[in-house]
Amino acid sequence: MGRPFFIMQIYLIGFMGCGKSFMGSKLAKLLDIPFIDSDTLIEKDMKMSISVIFRKLGESEFRRLETNMLMSFNADAVFATGGGVVESIENCNFIKDSKAIVIWLNPTWANLYQRIRNSARPLVKGRTETELKTLFNSRKVKYSELSDIIYTGSSAQELLAQIKKPG
Ligand code: S3P
Repeated sequence: MGRPFFIMQIYLIGFMGCGKSFMGSKLAKLLDIPFIDSDTLIEKDMKMSISVIFRKLGESEFRRLETNMLMSFNADAVFATGGGVVESIENCNFIKDSKAIVIWLNPTWANLYQRIRNSARPLVKGRTETELKTLFNSRKVKYSELSDIIYTGSSAQELLAQIKKPG
């Protein structure tokens, strides 16, 4: 598919494991625009993995880097945020005030948990399912408030159709 007439900026938001990177790269391909992953860029800039950043510099420094990355994004691209981007009011306001289309990827909790349960993500390691569910519940209101589109499936084609749908 060639570049559509509506070149656009898209934020993908949602909890860890919701498929922001997987769906984002497919969606970007369909739209023929770049795919940008916040965590990957932070890792490249810092020459450290996210886990090492958490361990060596702490979560608050990671959050500062995440905010800088979010605020430096200004391109027609699909931008995958980290699941915790909504932890900062500053980030939420920035996303809300942007012209981008904000898509919340929201599969079922069972799917999310299945995808993250064995992951080495710093906020997953050592946490029980109940603790992770509590974290998800504390964030989902914010994901919901920010989103223009809520997508629960796993097909980039179907998501694209939802984006194109008027209203
Ligand atoms: C985080 C999610 C991660 C990453 C970091 C913190 C979070 O990104 O930014 O480990 O607070 O939920 P993904 O949502 O891409 O896993």
